[in-house]
Amino acid sequence: MAIKVQNLTKEFDGRKVLDNISFSVEQGEILSIVGFSGSGKSTILKLISGLLTPDAGVIDIGDGDVAMVFQYSALFDSLNVFDNISFALQERKEFRGKYTKEQLKEIVAKSLKTVGLEGIEDKFPYELSGGMQKRVSLARAIVTHPQFILYDEPTAGLDPVASTVIEDYILRLREETKATSIVVTHQMSTIKRCSDKLIMLYDGHIVFRGTPDELLKQDNPYTKQFVSASIEGPMKITASGF
Ligand SMILES: Nc1ncnc2c1ncn2[C@@H]1O[C@H](COP(=O)(O)OP(=O)(O)O)[C@@H](O)[C@H]1O
Ligand SMILES: [Mg+2]
Repeated sequence: MAIKVQNLTKEFDGRKVLDNISFSVEQGEILSIVGFSGSGKSTILKLISGLLTPDAGVIDIGDGDVAMVFQYSALFDSLNVFDNISFALQERKEFRGKYTKEQLKEIVAKSLKTVGLEGIEDKFPYELSGGMQKRVSLARAIVTHPQFILYDEPTAGLDPVASTVIEDYILRLREETKATSIVVTHQMSTIKRCSDKLIMLYDGHIVFRGTPDELLKQDNPYTKQFVSASIEGPMKITASGF
């Protein structure tokens, strides 16, 4: 299933964080969203997942199910890995009571296997590294077989090797679930390895859209500034970005 966003506008306190934005992500495609901090990337994910409502515009995701993988792994500290993952199935009324305890065990084991973490059901989040916590949050995201997976800075704060592992799983999940995905990221490795195409946000608008190769060509002032991480350029870092 595709994601189609048309003329999306969202204001906070009279400021248009997103101003008439349109883009689409085709079935099975991965779109990256890049832009400075405060440019509205997380807001787009929250609008698509229904956590926020748009001021104007249309978001068409059919009747697909959306899973969010948050910037911080957002696991419950007081729950073990089994409960954290099975929570995704028990909190929702369409899944509640659908599975026996034995079936839940099987489903959780399978989802952990998908992210390379077999047998850690009894561990608590504090016993896991940051990268492992992120992988548990991936396992939790896919347990409901979502048509759409939205990742908010999935590799933020991870070392390069742990980032590579997460990037591999983003690609593997796409293969296994055929989900349509959006990845918000700052990380060049994630952009290059995981995205079919990307959009860059600035001042409420999409200032670049293209493939990772086109981004790396740096043949417009925005891509040049982004790739070189320069303070100089058309994009001004404002106080609201911090
Ligand atoms: N619920 C909210 N209420 C008020 N302002 C918000 C809210 N959510 C986000 N904002 C503001 O909208 C802008 C974009 O936020 P966000 O989408 O989180 O940016 P990004 O993810 O690109 O860093 C920021 O200036 C932020 O302060
Ligand atoms: Mg954000």
